[in-house]
Amino acid sequence: MTDRVLVTGGAGYIGSHVVRQLGEAGYDVVVFDNLSTGHEWAVTHGELVVGDLADPEALEALFAANEFDAVLHFAAHIIVPESVADPLKYYRNNTRNTLNLLGAMSRHGVNRIVFSSTAAVYGMPDQQVLTEDLPLAPINPYGASKMMSERMIMDLASASDLDYVILRYFNVAGADPQTRLGQATPEATHLIKVACECATGARGGMQIFGTDYGTRDGTCVRDYIHVEDLASAHVRALEHMQQGNGSEILNCGYGRGFTVREVIDVVKRLSGVDFPVTEAERRAGDPEALMADNQRIRRRLDWVPAYDDLDTIVQTALDWERHWQARQNNPTDQ
Ligand code: UFG
Repeated sequence: MTDRVLVTGGAGYIGSHVVRQLGEAGYDVVVFDNLSTGHEWAVTHGELVVGDLADPEALEALFAANEFDAVLHFAAHIIVPESVADPLKYYRNNTRNTLNLLGAMSRHGVNRIVFSSTAAVYGMPDQQVLTEDLPLAPINPYGASKMMSERMIMDLASASDLDYVILRYFNVAGADPQTRLGQATPEATHLIKVACECATGARGGMQIFGTDYGTRDGTCVRDYIHVEDLASAHVRALEHMQQGNGSEILNCGYGRGFTVREVIDVVKRLSGVDFPVTEAERRAGDPEALMADNQRIRRRLDWVPAYDDLDTIVQTALDWERHWQARQNNPTDQ
């Protein structure tokens, strides 16, 4: 029998790539999304139910109408500086809404979840390459909101037959190589997206936040992972639970990092556009360097990344950005 899976936030950037891979793998997908940052066109497989996890009646109706085998929970706010400025927005939408979702799962006997967590749960650790068993010490409300959600999932799993795979994402970037999907969030703040907007002329220039970190060129180091590799980790996570392998907490990254300047240089080289870049103060809530130890996900999920190359990540992001700009300028020509 085909597995029926609920994907919250499946119309968003990461969720939509996962929905496409799930659809291609033969899953029966129901997307639940409030379309606050997601798009109807991004749901390429399954059924889209427009609704909000903050609405208990909508959630109850969704679970009453469907027998789900598993839930993949993406729906969340994800911008670190915004979380510093408006923490309650993050505790409401990320933490409380995860509580609502877990309540519905528990009432309806749905006992598998793949949860989108983040490297931001680690905070500012002493080492740069992070293993999953490090103590959690988030330094911003975004990371704290996800840490609390992880804890609720683990506590419910201890008290019930819930199985979970918690995936801690490092810096997700890139797009579907065929430009069917990509990051289409307005007012995006993530580095590769911002730099690609500069390269395509959608933005006049950008800033580097902090040039006095103790890294090789003074700018922050991040572990950039291609969204298609992250998506395949989700499909593997579902299979892992279907095979009865139990719960896991797994980093999703490649285990190496690039500085902000290095990323910008690649965008400039591949686009051939020397857009203006200015140096600015450090951004609140930014750890100096974050890279994943990914031994555990490779072992436990047999996950083999296929896009571990910064040029490929940037090229797919650039191709998508050009496609997306053209589409917005000429909405009938899709
Ligand atoms: N940056 C700039 N200029 C910009 C945008 C970003 O200099 O215009 C810098 C940031 O200061 C940071 C780096 O580029 O040093 C990466 O910033 P992003 O905003 O792209 O991503 P974050 O590292 O803040 O956050 C992302 C995810 C989190 C995850 C985190 C962990 O949003 O979920 O990576 O690595 F936890």
